[in-house]
Amino acid sequence: MGEGARARLRGWVYRKRDVGGKIFIVLRDSEGILQVVIDRSQAPREAVAEAERADIEASVEAAGVLARDPRAPGGVELRAHHFKVYGESRNFPIKGGEGVDYLLDVRHLWVRSRRLTAVWRIRHTVLKALREYLERNGWWEVSPPILTQSAVEGGATLFEVNFFGRKAYLSQSAQFYLEALIYSLEKVWSLTPSFRAERSRTRRHLYEYWHLEVEQAWAGMEDLMRIGEEMVAYTVDAVLRERLEELSLLKRDTERLEPARKPGYPRITYDEALEILRRKGVDLKWGDDLGADEERLLTEEFETPFYVTHFPKQIKSFYMKTDRSRPDVVLGFDLLAPEGYGEVIGGSEREDDYEVLYARIVEEGLNPEDYKWYLDLRRYGSVPHAGFGLGVDRLVMWIAGLDHIRDSIPFPRFRDRIYP
Ligand code: 4AD
Ligand code: MG
Repeated sequence: MGEGARARLRGWVYRKRDVGGKIFIVLRDSEGILQVVIDRSQAPREAVAEAERADIEASVEAAGVLARDPRAPGGVELRAHHFKVYGESRNFPIKGGEGVDYLLDVRHLWVRSRRLTAVWRIRHTVLKALREYLERNGWWEVSPPILTQSAVEGGATLFEVNFFGRKAYLSQSAQFYLEALIYSLEKVWSLTPSFRAERSRTRRHLYEYWHLEVEQAWAGMEDLMRIGEEMVAYTVDAVLRERLEELSLLKRDTERLEPARKPGYPRITYDEALEILRRKGVDLKWGDDLGADEERLLTEEFETPFYVTHFPKQIKSFYMKTDRSRPDVVLGFDLLAPEGYGEVIGGSEREDDYEVLYARIVEEGLNPEDYKWYLDLRRYGSVPHAGFGLGVDRLVMWIAGLDHIRDSIPFPRFRDRIYP
C-alpha cells in the first residue's frame, strides 16, 4: 500500500509509546508489524480514549491513512482516525527478559512472540516443500495408525498405553505400516507424530515429534539416499526463496545454508567416519554407535548435509538388510545436517527374505509372534524395498539455526511436566 492510501487493520498491540501529543502503537498481525499513530489534536476523542486503554497484546482495530515516515519500523505508518479495542490485555505476563522455565509455563502466550512466529512460518514452508516434492514425484500419501502393538525401534523408548486392559504402544515409526502399503501403491509416505520415551534430555530429542516417512518397492539404499537428499535440498531452496525475512529475524547465517540447496551431498561409510574421528582424537571401537558428540565432530568436516552408511548391524534395527558381500554391516544410512546439528534422516534397505528376517528377530531376542504380520509381508510377494524417516523438527531446527529443538515446535512435551 502506498503513501496516502486508506487502510484498516486488525491485530495486537506489540509496542506502545505515549509521548503526550501522540500515541504510537506498533501493531502486530500475521503479516508483520506496522506503526499506528493516534494524534491527540486530530483523531476523534473516542479513538484517543481507546488507544489510551490499549495495553500490550490487546487486540485492536485501526483505520486511517498510510504515510511514509523513516522513523517507523518498515518506513511506513498508519495515521489513525479510528481506533478500537476488541479484547483488552491487562498486564500481559511476558514483558521480556524472562527465563525459559517461566516462558514454558506461558507457552500458550509465548507462541505469539515474533521470534517463534518466524519459526512457525519457516516450519510451514518446510512442510509445504516436503509435501510438494513428494507430490511432484509420484508418491502416495497414506495414513498409518498411532496406536500400535509392537516396537519398530526397540523397547527402550516405547510409550505404553492401556488399551481397554491390554497393552498397546504409541508409534515410534510408521515404517511397518508403510511397508505393508507398498504392495499396492509402491511409493508411499506419511507424516505423523512419533513418540519416543528418550531416557536423557537433550537439545535434539522430543518425546513427541513429527516424522515424515517414505517407503518404496523395487528400490534399494542408493535410490532412497537420492530421494532423501533431493527432498532436503528442495526444502532448503524453498525456505531460502520464501522465508528470508524470517531467517534474518532469527539472525540465521543464510550463507551456511546455500551449499545445501543442491543435491549431491557427500557420503562416507561408518568405517570412514571412525577414521575421521580417530584423526580428531576420538577413538571409537568398531561397533560403537555414533553419539551426538561424535556426530558433531563429523559435521565439522562438511559444508552440507552428508550421509553416513554401512553401519555395524549390532547398532541398527533388526529389519535392516545386511550387505550380502559383508554381512557384519547393514545397508543403512543416516543423513547428518552440518554445523553440529547431526542426524535428520535415518533409513535403510529392508530385509525382504522371510528366513533371514525371522532369524534376525530371534537373534535380537524379540518374539517372532509379535512380528507375525510383518513377517507375512515376506511370505506373499516379497519385493526388494527401502525407506527412511525424516525428523521434521530436526530439519526445522537446523534450517532455522535454533539452539534447542523445543523451539521448532509450538507445544513441545517435557518429561517432568506437560505444559499447555
Ligand atoms: O532413525 P530413526 O529412529 O528411524 C526410524 O524410526 C525408522 N523406522 C524410519 C524409517 O525408516 N521409516 O528415526 C528417524 C528420524 C531420525 O533421523 C530423527 O531425525 C528423527 O526421526 N527422530 C527424532 N526427532 C526428534 N526427537 C526424537 N526423539 C527423535 N527420534 C528420532
Ligand atoms: Mg536413527
